[in-house]
Amino acid sequence: MDGQAKVISFEPTCLPMEMTIEAAREPLIVRALRGDVVERTPVWLMRQAGRYLPEYRAIRAEHSFMETCRTPELAAEVTLQPIRRFGVDAAIIFSDILLVIDAMGAEVTFSDRGPAVGRPIRTAGDVRKLGRVEPERDLPYVAEAIRATVASLPEGVPLIGFAGAPFTLLTYLMEGKGERAVSAARAFLMREPDLADELLGLLADAVTVHLVAQVEAGARVVQLFDSWAGSLQPGLWERFAARYSRRVFEGLRHLSVPTIYFVRCAADHLLHLTEAGADAYSVGWLCDLSWARSVLGEGIPIQGNLDPAVLLTRPELIRDEVDRVIAAGGCRGHIFNLGHGVLPQTDPEMVRVLVEAVRESSSRIC
Ligand code: CP3
Repeated sequence: MDGQAKVISFEPTCLPMEMTIEAAREPLIVRALRGDVVERTPVWLMRQAGRYLPEYRAIRAEHSFMETCRTPELAAEVTLQPIRRFGVDAAIIFSDILLVIDAMGAEVTFSDRGPAVGRPIRTAGDVRKLGRVEPERDLPYVAEAIRATVASLPEGVPLIGFAGAPFTLLTYLMEGKGERAVSAARAFLMREPDLADELLGLLADAVTVHLVAQVEAGARVVQLFDSWAGSLQPGLWERFAARYSRRVFEGLRHLSVPTIYFVRCAADHLLHLTEAGADAYSVGWLCDLSWARSVLGEGIPIQGNLDPAVLLTRPELIRDEVDRVIAAGGCRGHIFNLGHGVLPQTDPEMVRVLVEAVRESSSRIC
């Protein structure tokens, strides 16, 4: 702190007086992720860019999902849409967790029925056929989209880079979709632990270089999505999900960007969640945020966790639910988000109500 000028006065005056100009210049969400006391709770929403926005649907009417991801100008435009509309506190690059396994040779396609993997993993031979990922060669459009987005973002709004966690990518590499893929993945871990280690190691390496490239292109925060990890019994979760997510976070440590690990809530996992080694944890709506905080530890920043279905109701209910989540999150180490992505049938006006309610509610208590 020595040698840095102190902020003498600040309007509005709720900034802590000891805050330096240097620290005040850091984006709100970065300060919240460091566990600083903040003047209000930062808010962004998973799937904030997507089908509920008419401007997104207009782009998708002309371009496929993959084409949108792979065309930097389109990906940047879609990333910026919710920033322009709602003024949320962070952007998340428009992309998909499955692009990495596509780059490894899994042949991913997207249709109205969701993603499908053309070359699923069944044998050791399939695992060994997977390629290593070189971001500049295999995913150059992601870094380009990040550079284009960062150039257009308003000051103080950082970009979040992301990837799928190794275990969640493994589930998509198993034959089948949804629940079938998850039971196939669970059986695979138990039946062939050595092969699972080999595959998860490959995935962790691919995800790490992909995230390093995103940070080098301008991402200031990183989120790792372990969407299916909550379906593992605690022992398997530690052995296969936490271990390989931790390997990814360790591979990012030298970059000094705050990291967030997303799991849907699963009570027992929370007890060991910090073993994943992230700076902050994003939890689903099934657990109470204050309980999650006490289990994780008071000093651990936490993200979440409004039920996205609340956005399908009405403004008064949204405001009440926001008050509840803000009260549970407090003024230190909380990033407001949904417990999962914005649902496609959401009215964008309800998202506006939500973002304003977070601002009002947290400014009142912080
Ligand atoms: O705004 C953002 O959040 C950034 C973009 C983003 C997408 N996918 C775009 C997308 C992010 C962060 C993801 C992550 C992702 N992708 C996850 C982890 C989060 C989670 O949902 O648990 C997963 C599991 C995927 C894989 C995936 N991609 C699925 C299962 C689907 C189909 C389900 C659905 O919502 O349609 C997708 C397609 C997808 N990814 C869409 C978007 C906007 C919808 C595609 C469309 O426009 O038709």
